[in-house]
Amino acid sequence: MHLVIVGCGRIAQAAHLPALERVENIQLTGVVDRSPAIAKGVAARWGVEAFTDLEHALQGVDADAVLITVPDRLHASLAEQALRAGRHVLIEKPLTNTSAEARRLAEVVAETGKILRVANMKRHDPGVIQARRAVVEDLGPVLSFSAWYRNSAFSRSAEVFWPRMITDPAVASAELGFKSDKRRYWLMTHGSHLWDTVRYVIGDVTDVRARWSQVGEDMTWQTVAQLASGGVGTTDLTIYEHGEGGEGLNVRCAHGSLHLRIYNPFIHRAADVEIFTDAHREILRPAMTYANAYERQLRSFASAVNQADGNDAGDVDGLWGIGATVADGLATVRLLEATRDSALTGEKVSA
Ligand SMILES: NC(=O)c1ccc[n+]([C@@H]2O[C@H](COP(=O)([O-])OP(=O)(O)OC[C@H]3O[C@@H](n4cnc5c(N)ncnc54)[C@H](O)[C@@H]3O)[C@@H](O)[C@H]2O)c1
Repeated sequence: MHLVIVGCGRIAQAAHLPALERVENIQLTGVVDRSPAIAKGVAARWGVEAFTDLEHALQGVDADAVLITVPDRLHASLAEQALRAGRHVLIEKPLTNTSAEARRLAEVVAETGKILRVANMKRHDPGVIQARRAVVEDLGPVLSFSAWYRNSAFSRSAEVFWPRMITDPAVASAELGFKSDKRRYWLMTHGSHLWDTVRYVIGDVTDVRARWSQVGEDMTWQTVAQLASGGVGTTDLTIYEHGEGGEGLNVRCAHGSLHLRIYNPFIHRAADVEIFTDAHREILRPAMTYANAYERQLRSFASAVNQADGNDAGDVDGLWGIGATVADGLATVRLLEATRDSALTGEKVSA
């Protein structure tokens, strides 16, 4: 599969480009960034062609698919452009800025028949996959859950996560303006992981009742969430926690329960999962070690594309995890909007 990346900022350089080096059946052919300095620098480092707009890239090099890693506000238009040009799409989360845009994109996916996956890479973590499988196959109906996503205040200074990058000061200062509304930006960028993991492991959420609070610069969104299956749960999105931070899920079901602890994706460690079932009356803790969720996401995407294009049977056993579809992306954006709206009014809001 031939791939072009559009948007060569932090996540492209820190996560996707290094992961691509490990995936033998995807060949990167070109990179696009509207900053010529970033496009040329990244292209030179990765040995591919540089472009400053997607249209020229799609005319200039082979591409079966496009990986979209531009800021959220540009997701909808670039995804539509790539799909209408007959390319499959892997797009960073959140799918779009608004549910109206996501609905429109769902129509474009249906019209073009192309694959679109949202890059909620935690779905490809083997520990998260194991948790989902336990809920679906062994634990029975969900009674309740608690989910959390808390960024550590110390991660802000931990440049340890970010490799040396090719940057352009003009791009960085322009983006700061778009990220200045933290109440909106943090909910969208971090909440999109939280809600997708909840839906992936446990199932659909029909409505939420949310509260928001701020102390100094730190913010939290706490919700009570109703599952379509009948269970109920709570979510905690906190940016920043003055402590270790972390992400996870506890789920209590009719025939067992589980604890899931998800690690920072840059340390490439599979999530820890502990599963208790009434049938075995013991806690199972599958041994898992190295797992680069970004790499596994690319493998899953390549498999879906190859299957769609008739090149192979695809990942029929779900070894790499089941990527988020446009419908999943839309559901997450709806949940983010419901969280935002409910926190403003205190009322329950349908997702
Ligand atoms: N999955 C994850 O772990 C994760 C982590 C961080 C960010 N993200 C997501 O990735 C996306 C990008 O975030 P980032 O932090 O890398 O942003 P960034 O600002 O560092 O990089 C974005 C790049 O896109 C370029 N760009 C902007 N408009 C363009 C256009 N029209 N055509 C081509 N290039 C264009 C910019 O010049 C910039 O280099 C966001 O949607 C964000 O939510 C995901």
